[in-house]
This record gives sequence, C-alpha cells and structure tokens, in this order.
Amino acid sequence: MEKLYEGKAKIVYPGPETGTFRVFYKDDATAFNGQKKAQIGGKGVVNNKVSSELFRYLESHGIPTHFIRELSEREMLVKQVEIVPLEVIVRNRTAGTFSKRYGVEEGIVLKYPLVEFSLKNDALGDPLIYDDAALGLELVNGAELARIKELALRINTLLKEFFAERNLELIDFKLEFGRALTPGPSPKGERGKILLADEISPDTMRLWEFGTGKKMDKDRFRRDLGGVEEAYQEVLRRVIGGTA
Ligand code: CDP
Repeated sequence: MEKLYEGKAKIVYPGPETGTFRVFYKDDATAFNGQKKAQIGGKGVVNNKVSSELFRYLESHGIPTHFIRELSEREMLVKQVEIVPLEVIVRNRTAGTFSKRYGVEEGIVLKYPLVEFSLKNDALGDPLIYDDAALGLELVNGAELARIKELALRINTLLKEFFAERNLELIDFKLEFGRALTPGPSPKGERGKILLADEISPDTMRLWEFGTGKKMDKDRFRRDLGGVEEAYQEVLRRVIGGTA
C-alpha cells in the first residue's frame, strides 16, 4: 500500500474508507531532534495499544479525537485531519527542556498546569512559539487557540486521574490537534472541528511511578537509563489492566 507520509515513529497510509487514514506504529525511536536513533523492541505495539486505550477513555469523557478503532496490534484507523502545526505541551511538574530553559531543577510542582506551544518544524528544532506569533502567522485562529487550550487542560485532568489510579504520576505530555476534514453525522457536520490527533504514549509523556519516582517513559531511552522495553511493557500492562 502506498505510504502517504512516513515520520520518525509512524507511517500513514490511506484508510479503507474515504476520510480515513491507517496509522502504523514503528519500533523506531529518536531523541534530541533525530540525533539519537535506535529501535525499542515492541514499542510500536505498546504505543498503538496505549494510544488506542487513551483515545477511547478521552472520547468516553467528552473529548473529540481522530480515533476510530484499532485495526491490528500496530495499526489504528483515524479520521483524516489537517494537523495544526503546533506541539501543545502540558506540564504539571518541571522537567526536560523546561528545566533547562529556565535553569530550574526537575520535579518542581508547578503552581498550576502550564500549556506551552512549539512550532512543529524539525528543521528549526520545534521552537517555542507565543500566542500572538501563532495568531499573526495564521497557524490558528483565536477561537481554535482558545479551544485547544481548553481541551489540553481538560485532557490533563482526565489523564492525571487515569494514571494516578495506575500508580503513575503524569509529569508532562505533548498533544497535537487537527481540523476535521470530513462531514460528521450531525446536520451541521464536523468539518473544521478541532479534534485531538497524533498519539498519546510513553514516547510523548513523562510518567513517574508514585513512591519510587521511577521514570516509566522515553526518558529511559533519552538518558540511557536501561530497562526501556520493560518500562514500556509495564505502562501497557497498567493501562490495560486498570491497576498498578
Ligand atoms: O522531551 P524534551 O525534554 O525534549 O522536551 P519537553 O518540552 O520537556 O517535553 C515535554 C513533554 O512533551 C515530554 O513528555 C516529551 O516526551 C513530549 N514531547 C514530545 O512528545 N515530542 C516533542 N517533539 C517534544 C516533547
């Protein structure tokens, strides 16, 4: 089947129905804007299953997403969207790039959850972008930006609770949103509606185990902490199993 797009961790193919895409999750892992590359055995399966479960959970709590259904261990069917070229990061504790940028240690609880935007542009290293620049460059309009922030904070509340039940603390995560391209079932249709897109997986979140503080996410790969495959499998087990 002809690829529409191949990224660092996923391949997008045309879907079986019009207005759909088939997304295949690879084991390839990259970090530091593609400078570090390797394979994490079984990662594609974990990320497809974890993302599918989280999309179902979020949908059941009123968050509109691009997810339609799982097609196989490594593939999901999604609605076609036009991706908003912003990486939307939500932070509950300081970590990673945020700690480096502001010279603060990792793990400080933020007074309230922060929503941060980067421009999706690998060549530029996904630079931080402020609201006025995103609006001035017409990457989003004002209503879309407000909606994206509102959804990002609701998703944070829902995911924090979901992972706390599994003894994992949600430190930060990245979301991408898209505009629906196909008319929906409602008379008005859903063209242009903002949908949660991309994936939510241990590649795109930081999860620390309550009590031990053990990192259960891609930082094990970024920082050569070992036990990468095991951590991904453990996250999957807890996500599916519903407990720690
Ligand atoms: O992860 P890194 O230190 O490079 O950047 P960050 O801004 O501290 O990342 C915040 C959260 O977003 C982490 O959970 C990252 O895994 C995730 N992220 C991502 O999934 N993709 C990116 N391009 C950047 C961040």
